[in-house]
Amino acid sequence: MHNAAFRALDLPWAYLAFAVPGERVGEAVAAVPALGLVGLNVTIPHKQAVIPHLDKLSRRALACGAVNTIVYRRGVLRGENTDVIGLERDWGELGVEPRLRDSVVLGAGGSARAVAVALAARSRRVIVAARRPERAEALVRDLRKSVATKLEAIDLAELTPGAGDAESVLGRAGLVVNATSAGMKGEPFFGFAFGATPRSCFFYDLIYTARRTPFLAAAARLRRPGSNGLGMLLHQGAAAFEIWTGVSPPLDVMRRALSRKP
Ligand SMILES: NC(=O)c1ccc[n+]([C@@H]2O[C@H](COP(=O)([O-])OP(=O)(O)OC[C@H]3O[C@@H](n4cnc5c(N)ncnc54)[C@H](OP(=O)(O)O)[C@@H]3O)[C@@H](O)[C@H]2O)c1
Repeated sequence: MHNAAFRALDLPWAYLAFAVPGERVGEAVAAVPALGLVGLNVTIPHKQAVIPHLDKLSRRALACGAVNTIVYRRGVLRGENTDVIGLERDWGELGVEPRLRDSVVLGAGGSARAVAVALAARSRRVIVAARRPERAEALVRDLRKSVATKLEAIDLAELTPGAGDAESVLGRAGLVVNATSAGMKGEPFFGFAFGATPRSCFFYDLIYTARRTPFLAAAARLRRPGSNGLGMLLHQGAAAFEIWTGVSPPLDVMRRALSRKP
């Protein structure tokens, strides 16, 4: 997507992937100036781990407590979060209801933080559900510093079919977002009370490796609408492109590149 955009605009740049082990995140970030890189994207599972190695955070990255884009300019390494913009733009294109009563995010990792910030802007209550509830609680505690919306943390186990709380938590949900990596490799989605949501509830999966991910397939079996995260990938990338280059991204070129099979 980025390389196609560079080519289309005749920019002599390249976008490369580096697999960085957890214990070497600091070294990788510190190498940016020495290698003459303009910036980086940061993905699973390093979005929080890079923060101590940066000089500055944008307002959005600070609110999320997670960074997906780094830019190096005038001797300063700045962390940004374009996942929030990516979600907002994609939900806009998909026509997701902009004023929700309840919304739910599954997972409490780096991306769940951006999801919770984006959901808070359009919901009266945001529920964060994680298999390690202490991670959901930490996320909610951090977000309360910058978000006025009602935020609640719960154990994901409470949302399994037949669990006591599933109806009360999901009964008024307008949007449920999968921000876990469950289903990424095609494995079946974990037990979740899809049927406790209203018929109009929209299911959004951050995973984009399949059009119908295991999470979306389970929702579709109960006739719930939904989308994978390909549009988010496009828009978070386009926003990062603009931050790095200062040039308006060629969205159509990027969209076409994404839709091509590797
Ligand atoms: N569409 C896009 O543009 C976009 C952008 C960002 C991320 N993503 C996707 O979003 C997903 C999450 O990324 P991330 O950076 O947030 O990863 P992360 O920081 O590693 O967090 C993953 C979260 O998923 C939970 N989890 C994993 N397997 C689970 C399971 N079987 N049951 C319940 N919970 C499970 C983890 O719980 P524990 O902490 O207990 O392990 C953690 O809360 C990835 O699939 C990534 O590819 C897509």
